[in-house]
Amino acid sequence: MPGPSAPPCSNLVPIVLALGIFAWPGCSAPVREVAVGMQVPAAAGAVACVDPVAARIGALVLRDGGNAVDAAVATAFALAVTWPEAGNLGGGGFLLLRQADGAATFIDYREMAPAAASKDMFLDANGEVDRYHVRLGYRPVGVPGTVAGLWLAHERYGRLPWARLLAPAIALAAEGVTVRPALARSIAEAAAELALDAEAARIFLRADGAAPPAGERLVQSDLAATLRSIADEGADAFYRGAVAQRLVAASRAQGGRLTAADLAGYRALARDPLRGSYRGLEIIAGPPPTSGGQVLLESLQQLQGFAMSELAAGSPAELHLLAEVLRRSFLDRARHLADADFVAVDVASLIDEANAARWRANIDPHHASRSDAIAGDLDGTLPPEGGHTTHFSVIDADGNAVTNTYTLEEAWGAKVVAPGTGFVLNNEMHDFNVTPGRSTRSGRVGTRPNEIAPCKRMLSSMCPVIVCRDGRPYLIAGSPGGRTIPASVLRVLTGVIDHGLSLREAIDLPRIHHGLYPDRIAHERSLPEATRAALIAMGHALHQEDTQGDCHAIGVDAATGQYLAVADRRRDGAAAAVIDDP
Ligand code: DON
Repeated sequence: MPGPSAPPCSNLVPIVLALGIFAWPGCSAPVREVAVGMQVPAAAGAVACVDPVAARIGALVLRDGGNAVDAAVATAFALAVTWPEAGNLGGGGFLLLRQADGAATFIDYREMAPAAASKDMFLDANGEVDRYHVRLGYRPVGVPGTVAGLWLAHERYGRLPWARLLAPAIALAAEGVTVRPALARSIAEAAAELALDAEAARIFLRADGAAPPAGERLVQSDLAATLRSIADEGADAFYRGAVAQRLVAASRAQGGRLTAADLAGYRALARDPLRGSYRGLEIIAGPPPTSGGQVLLESLQQLQGFAMSELAAGSPAELHLLAEVLRRSFLDRARHLADADFVAVDVASLIDEANAARWRANIDPHHASRSDAIAGDLDGTLPPEGGHTTHFSVIDADGNAVTNTYTLEEAWGAKVVAPGTGFVLNNEMHDFNVTPGRSTRSGRVGTRPNEIAPCKRMLSSMCPVIVCRDGRPYLIAGSPGGRTIPASVLRVLTGVIDHGLSLREAIDLPRIHHGLYPDRIAHERSLPEATRAALIAMGHALHQEDTQGDCHAIGVDAATGQYLAVADRRRDGAAAAVIDDP
């Protein structure tokens, strides 16, 4: 994959496309355009994400000679404008790249605890979690990683100029985006808490405090200025320049712990991904500080010993197995997983066959286990998770693949915007175990590895993954959904790999999750009644959620052998692909 260089065309006259976005014209016949839909053939490169405008921006980058990393960078910046509940500059995430030659890199741009963080910083005088400060305002804000992560990815692997990749996002922020129904709903749901912060309210709410309706124009002038400074000066504009000063001033004024040194000291890190295999396919996934790879690979390794393909996808017997392997993987997660730069984490021994065989031996294929019975000294429950984070998948014409999940933690993060910056800040500190030594059966984990420490990265569940067959990407996937993320990814992978479903069918399957505690299967509303009854008869408690996750993915179309980019319907996503202009 070539490193940074000028666009592959000397005639760099910008043209204005329908979106009001500047792009470099293609320089070789045939003329190429971009097609957007819920499912698009992707032989010449594609992006699948939560938003059609951002997907198209990424695909235009591919059309104009950018590679998968360029498209990912442009898509990520665009989503920060079009999908600000989760697309972000003020959060963090993980970008997994697999180059066409097989080399793979995991870019960890997870947020980091400020140096002044302490393990009991969210406990009140009675030792209880302070429910306001753990979620809202400046105290739950981790040092943002997104700009550093995208910068690092581009510096190492990008081909088009950095400023070219930010230009579409700048134009969208300055000129305004049309509020889509999904965004209108999202703002409305968060309006009461966004209203607590004058700057967030000024940008995202109407003067009377109401959320803007679908169809209204959302202009984000301060965000445009911030993006412009990042385009001109690079990541330093964010971590050392005026943006950093504004973040620190607002944090200090409102009881946060961010300092200039925290921002200047933040580094995105290139790590070796985890690698495993399932039914002969290679699985490339994320190492700590995410648990996504561990939970996914450990679950797959357990499933490998069951004849999954003999069970119907979504049948009670099959869902029971998914729940049981997830239950056990989540126990190992709670006991061991954390930022491996701070605590020793032997992921290899968790995802290996010996551990899988040990767990398989105590799975009853017909009856639910009890979490208490396997958890031993861990008494715990994990808090419910919303669905607010966002995932996108990219492939380019050369076969370079990027899978990226990034987040503010909750939708709209901490619901604060530092004056003049234009973007929402994360509340990712909430992902640490904030009640040291105390786990609960409702889902709170207080185990030691993931306790807060200065400059440590909080444990994540995000699970960007690339599956390869015969040395080529076969499936590129990931999802939002907090602790349900590995379960959503597992559902899609097993749907395709074990059951031979098309990617569309696998994405559409009803999803379930088991996270050890609460000791119950969370399931989507779409799970059939008869299936629910059968699971209850096996001894499972059930809990209904509307939907789980949002998996925008790229796979291989069995009919044509070509790549196909497929958007998840759960949040009206879109796929955009480069096509020859008819
Ligand atoms: O890193 C994580 O795992 C979470 N902060 C992601 C949050 C998420 O997906 C939002 N929904 N729960």
